[in-house]
Amino acid sequence: MRWQAFPKVELHLHLEGAAPSAFIRGLAAEKHVDIHKVFDQDGNYAFRDFVHFLQVYEVATSVLQSPEDYARLTRAVLEQSAENGVIYCETFLSPDFCGGGDVAAWREYLSAMQEVATQAEAKDGITLRGIITCIRHFGPEQARTAALCAADTVGDFITGFGIAGDEGKGRPRDFLWSFDCAREAGLRLTAHAGEWGGPQSVREALSDLRVERIGHGVRAIEDLALVDELAERGVVLECCPGSNVALGLYPSWQDHPIEKLRARGVKVTVSTDDPPFFHTDMTREFDELARAFGWQAEDFAEITRTALDAAFCDEDTKARIEKRLETPG
Ligand code: HPA
Ligand code: ZN
Repeated sequence: MRWQAFPKVELHLHLEGAAPSAFIRGLAAEKHVDIHKVFDQDGNYAFRDFVHFLQVYEVATSVLQSPEDYARLTRAVLEQSAENGVIYCETFLSPDFCGGGDVAAWREYLSAMQEVATQAEAKDGITLRGIITCIRHFGPEQARTAALCAADTVGDFITGFGIAGDEGKGRPRDFLWSFDCAREAGLRLTAHAGEWGGPQSVREALSDLRVERIGHGVRAIEDLALVDELAERGVVLECCPGSNVALGLYPSWQDHPIEKLRARGVKVTVSTDDPPFFHTDMTREFDELARAFGWQAEDFAEITRTALDAAFCDEDTKARIEKRLETPG
């Protein structure tokens, strides 16, 4: 575990997707909910493909039913991240799962998670910020509710808005209202694109939703004019190589385009997406990238700086994290 202690910045992590399978199994047992179908014989999450993954994800998430459950989840996730050297993390949060889109309920979930984040910052030295995501396959109407929750709770902790879910459903422009609402409220923007959709999905996320970061975006590599445009405009890609390999988008780590994108001038960063689902963590991402592309400390330091530059937190927080990158330990 050579890279475990290396200080890391992670920008793309779905909170429920970071729930260890044992944590979800324990919660299911406490609540007497039968979700055995989402696990394999070894107790790991089991799914066939991306769409099935999203279904399994939602069944697993269904046992998280209260602000206290989300507080426990946040604690477990931050402990794991800190163990892997993460000092700053942005996580996707969905009011659809936390209170069913009701703003008052959402506020209760949020304050429970934020309280744990404050404790973890003092105890484990990890800083957390939240990006509210709407869920593409829940449709544009429900996305408006998520955007309104985001606009209502924008602040030091909730700093961004984005879209996750099934890239095969609908088009970015269907979610224009939500993104405009979030932008007007002062939230920074990111969108999942260019994972299951091709280069055109990245173009649409940029032109229609006017996001500054792209979740994944790796299939931009199929259109070099787009790659050059991303480089020129300084668009940041939240790459999650382990996730892409686990879901079969690329057959191996060596086949992942992150190195080609970086070599052509695109700002790339590294995250885990949904670590226990994809049998990864930030240490493994670094280990595999070092093995596949010969990346060394200076390469990882560069992508970490890129990630911090692209973080959605305020400048004071950034300066604080930057100091810790300069003098690790
Ligand atoms: N991709 C898209 N949507 C998601 C994911 C993911 O990895 N996890 C949870 N929602
Ligand atoms: Zn994701």
